[in-house]
Amino acid sequence: MNSKSKPLIVSITSGKGGVGKTFITTNLATILARQGKKVLVADCDLGLANIDVMLGINPALNLKDVVFGNKHLRDVIVSTKGGFDLIPASSGVREMAQLLFEKIQIIKDMLLEMEGYDLILLDTGAGIAEVVLQFNLLAHQNVVVINRELTSLTDAYAMVKVMYQVFGRQTFSIVANNIPDEKDGAGIFKNIDTISRRFLGFPLNYLGSVLQDDSVSKSVMRQEIAVMSAPRSRMAADFSKIGRALLDLKKA
Ligand SMILES: Nc1ncnc2c1ncn2[C@@H]1O[C@H](COP(=O)(O)OP(=O)(O)O)[C@@H](O)[C@H]1O
Ligand SMILES: [Mg+2]
Repeated sequence: MNSKSKPLIVSITSGKGGVGKTFITTNLATILARQGKKVLVADCDLGLANIDVMLGINPALNLKDVVFGNKHLRDVIVSTKGGFDLIPASSGVREMAQLLFEKIQIIKDMLLEMEGYDLILLDTGAGIAEVVLQFNLLAHQNVVVINRELTSLTDAYAMVKVMYQVFGRQTFSIVANNIPDEKDGAGIFKNIDTISRRFLGFPLNYLGSVLQDDSVSKSVMRQEIAVMSAPRSRMAADFSKIGRALLDLKKA
């Protein structure tokens, strides 16, 4: 991939909250940055942004200053210890949680104009609110995160269905997170893939799985990035694999 060409934009999204979108975004971004890719992460969970917290940083500016101030997206970008750049957002700012369509459009337009990156990862909020759908629409590829909970599966299906019915999107990738064993990941992927084929008429793409690991909550608490704390772990290998699969995705 060439940084001079337009970056591949990928959203990391989910139906249900708390499935690991932010965890996956930061770790994937770190792994890909380590492989020499220029990666930009945008915190698109506008009401409850928390990548800055996960990384232990306190950026002076964020998306709020772009939407309601006179800042450009470039002005709010900070570099991170993961080796990727970050566009932080705000948490607990009501106006940001209820952005009007025109305001969302400002962010989308600026993201589309970004140059100098191989990849832009959008860490979205959960659910099928308009703002989440808009960021998913902007992305060339949507990665839907699921876990073992049945509700994460039904909510992920709801997301896929809405993106298909509203925007005609038919390409979705699935990452199974927080699972006890690789076979479980393939199993839950098969469940949602079968439902999509039957009721929507198209298959889903399986990007891979990330195992449940007790060290994750510790690294979140310490504001560390799991794949940096344990670069030779099984988890780091899982993320490398997903990263490779991600870079193979095309700008659909
Ligand atoms: N593979 C995993 N193993 C163990 N715990 C995990 C894993 N993935 C996520 N978690 C836990 O789930 C919590 C929520 O993850 P987060 O990325 O904030 O979810 P989301 O962004 O989807 O709301 C994390 O703080 C972490 O403790
Ligand atoms: Mg999150």
